[in-house]
Amino acid sequence: MAPTAVQNGGSAGQELSKAIDEIGVQLTLSKDVLDKILERFHERMFHGLANDNQNMLMIPTFVTGVPDGSEKGTYLALDLGGTNLRVCEVILDGKGSFTMKQQKYKVSDELKRGKAKTLFTFIAQSVKTFLESESKTGSASSGEELLLGFTFSFPCEQTAIDQGTLIKWTKGFDADDAIGQEVVGLLQSCLNELGVKVRVNSLVNDTVGTLLAHGYQSKGPALLGGIFGTGTNGAYVELRKNITKLQVDDPLEPAPTYMIVNAEWGGFDDERAILPVTPFDNQVDREAIRPRHHAFEKMISGMYLGEISRMIILSLVDRLLLFKGFSSVKMNTQYAFDTAYMSAIMDDKKDASDNSSPTYKVLAETMEIKPENISAEDIKAVRRVCDIVGKRAARLSAVAVAAVIKHHQEEVSPDNKEEVYNLGVDGSVVEYLPNFLDWVREALREMVGTETEKKTKFGFAKDGSGIGAALCALQASKQEKDHHH
Ligand code: GLC
Repeated sequence: MAPTAVQNGGSAGQELSKAIDEIGVQLTLSKDVLDKILERFHERMFHGLANDNQNMLMIPTFVTGVPDGSEKGTYLALDLGGTNLRVCEVILDGKGSFTMKQQKYKVSDELKRGKAKTLFTFIAQSVKTFLESESKTGSASSGEELLLGFTFSFPCEQTAIDQGTLIKWTKGFDADDAIGQEVVGLLQSCLNELGVKVRVNSLVNDTVGTLLAHGYQSKGPALLGGIFGTGTNGAYVELRKNITKLQVDDPLEPAPTYMIVNAEWGGFDDERAILPVTPFDNQVDREAIRPRHHAFEKMISGMYLGEISRMIILSLVDRLLLFKGFSSVKMNTQYAFDTAYMSAIMDDKKDASDNSSPTYKVLAETMEIKPENISAEDIKAVRRVCDIVGKRAARLSAVAVAAVIKHHQEEVSPDNKEEVYNLGVDGSVVEYLPNFLDWVREALREMVGTETEKKTKFGFAKDGSGIGAALCALQASKQEKDHHH
């Protein structure tokens, strides 16, 4: 174990740790604050169910049934909205299991921010490439009509299970002229142009996919599908009659009892009525592609957590408390402090003076801070900053989860006292950020009580957006048949 060159003297170290205490206070959410945010969140859920164009959109998905594990068949799935574009062929075996072939394609920044037509042609082309390479071996060649579930994880105004117009982009996408376009039609026409014989029969948000996939895999219905990844959002099972903004033109007759709602909770509190935003959040927001949008998401999701930490770290550098007052070009580059580095740092159990530690490596090698400027105190400080930012994200995530559970208890299933709350989750933050789920549970206990928290089961819906899209394609063809009868 080689000691690092510098040890901050006692008083400088104390000043640094005091500064972090103070920042910690700004980012701490007490039970009291959580309760208030929860109340507001639940109120905004009702508001969004009754009114169009709210910040928390509460989008009806027209998905009216959830799987139970017995679903069977072969479907295609397309997944756009995270880091990669994926094309999958999913075979559901009817016993809660599946087999899947998939290919991933990188979506460049030019594609994300170019013309809609170019982006969708690229997507269609990927399907074509996939089918051509799979048809040698796979069932994709059988000649039957192939149904495809399109996981498109952006806010869309849905008018049917296979129809939705893009309301806005999130997570760094910005192909402007796509706003207002009906995305299933757009994809279908690009597929047709390329001669790809596939029918897109459902539009699926990743949260909806997660909800469906978890129900299938755990062989029992789930009440929430939550994504804590690049973005954050949740879909849950709602009473059809509670969706009061959906009235006359309801294409589904007779009206079903339940419908899955995509909350688009990333947009919660864009009106800034309740969330305690800090100057660090404001800076992240101002410099983001879409300022003043998705405030909640910007405090929770993987796209932004590293960025908030970076802002805090730089503020400590500016006060000459960290790295002797020096940073690096890398440290000053937007989004360069990836949330994945936070995970590595928060997992770091090594001694702070050991410069083989993951924290030291991230700072010296990846972020290019000069080794002679990194002290053991600095290492400890950076770890604390990441913990503070990660913990706040978890506690805010718990608010959304608590709201859905509370809503379920009060509205959807008030008479079932024995119920367990089966939640499917997915995404890099919930999967890789150390302690995230423990912190979520701790905050849940504070808000909904120990008894309910104990009955809450989090399950990883691995690959919700692939399996879920296949399940949605199946559900859509089922609904189509029911409808014609
Ligand atoms: C963003 C999108 C939302 C998606 C979430 C998670 O919040 O607006 O549709 O579900 O990211 O990927």
